[in-house]
Amino acid sequence: MSVTVVNHPLVQHKLTIMRNKETSTAGFRRLLREISLLLGYEVTRDLELTTTRIETPLQPMDAPTLEGKKLVFASVLRAGNGLLEGLLDLVPAARVAHVGLYRDHDTLEAVEYFFKAPSDLGDRLVIVVDPMLATANSAIAAIDKLKSRGATNLRFLCLLAAPEGIARFTKAHPDVPVFTAAIDEKLNEKGYIVPGLGDAGDRMYGTK
Ligand code: PRP
Ligand code: URA
Repeated sequence: MSVTVVNHPLVQHKLTIMRNKETSTAGFRRLLREISLLLGYEVTRDLELTTTRIETPLQPMDAPTLEGKKLVFASVLRAGNGLLEGLLDLVPAARVAHVGLYRDHDTLEAVEYFFKAPSDLGDRLVIVVDPMLATANSAIAAIDKLKSRGATNLRFLCLLAAPEGIARFTKAHPDVPVFTAAIDEKLNEKGYIVPGLGDAGDRMYGTK
């Protein structure tokens, strides 16, 4: 089990602006994209390298390149797309999976409405992205589904996590490392992370 809190000052600064209820939809979206570049740097830090023979203008060299098949970003809809966009700037050749899930407001259970992923998930690193890990129902369901379709090498990247969500997630999927910008105080009685930033999807898309 591994949980990494990305406490880089730029990440923390941008996260504070995102938490602020005065931040506009456009500002929230832009910051999520910016922060995803910084989080993406951390979540890919230990990717394996091989070498390839190239010729610089001066001489041949064996230069480092990423080893293995292109990785997969699996976005948990809707809000995962805010992280996905920046991550694709970082790794433009990555493959993408979409996992459509929403939280039932009464039960807080994750309800699946869409799934599309590359067929060879078992051969690739799959980085699952969703800004919020609250009860962890959505993240657990997304990873259950990806594993049922063959994924074995996964990571989970979020922006904010609740301690309750981290505990449930790491119990359900101890083999999946978690990366987050912060672990907040707790969940409130409605399953929202507090202090948190509110409903990530609504803040990204202005749907409240
Ligand atoms: C939010 C968020 C996560 C989920 C986290 O999505 O983006 O997917 O809640 O909560 P959990 O850990 O308790 O499952 P939501 O269900 O609001 O859907 P949306 O992204 O379509 O708004
Ligand atoms: N989903 C969100 O978007 N925000 C929360 O605080 C909890 C779940």
